[in-house]
Amino acid sequence: MTTKPRLQLALDHTRLDAALLTVERLHPHVDIIEAGTILCISAGIQAVGTLRERCPQHTLVADLKVADAGTTLAEQAFSQGANWMTVICAAPLATMAAALEVAERYQGEIQIELFGRWTLEDAKAWRALGIKQAIYHRGRDAQASGQTWGQQDLDTMKALSDLGIELSITGGITPPDLPLFKQIAVTAFIAGRALAEAADPVAAARQFHSAINEIWRS
Ligand code: 5RP
Ligand code: MG
Repeated sequence: MTTKPRLQLALDHTRLDAALLTVERLHPHVDIIEAGTILCISAGIQAVGTLRERCPQHTLVADLKVADAGTTLAEQAFSQGANWMTVICAAPLATMAAALEVAERYQGEIQIELFGRWTLEDAKAWRALGIKQAIYHRGRDAQASGQTWGQQDLDTMKALSDLGIELSITGGITPPDLPLFKQIAVTAFIAGRALAEAADPVAAARQFHSAINEIWRS
């Protein structure tokens, strides 16, 4: 039986106060909270700590997309209360191993952010290190330039699942997109703008959950 995907709120605000307003409204309606790359760069790593204080029970992700200095940056994220931290797929294996060592010390996990160029051979090497999670990502800029989801994405997701990688999916995701992924074992759908910028964010979160419950009936 496939586990029901969870809903992750990505906070990609450029101001911490705005992100906190969004999380205040939405935290009861989402399963996982993400301190987004934009938020962490704009407000600093303290954004992770503040979100941990405000949402002590949620799984908390630091979406740092780390490319180097794996030990130092993982120490920053996990000591602020993150459960999961992202490392970019282009990072050297040494960076992934260093970040993973810190994550495991905090009982946390590393997620590989899949952007641009990477191969299934790379994915096998990540698994061999002990990394279990990845995020299949259609980047904002790629989306804005017209990139859509297609069969090639689904085939690649299936191949990653076959390697034992737990996949979250993101990149301009909205509820009507979800049926496309019904054959995929999805850990979480990660939504930023579709939740935070909705006219009624709580109603938008409910639409995500309705779609998930409809498609992944247990
Ligand atoms: C961009 C990100 C975003 O957090 C992710 O894409 C979710 O945001 P949105 O749903 O607005 O695309 O990591 O690099
Ligand atoms: Mg993000």
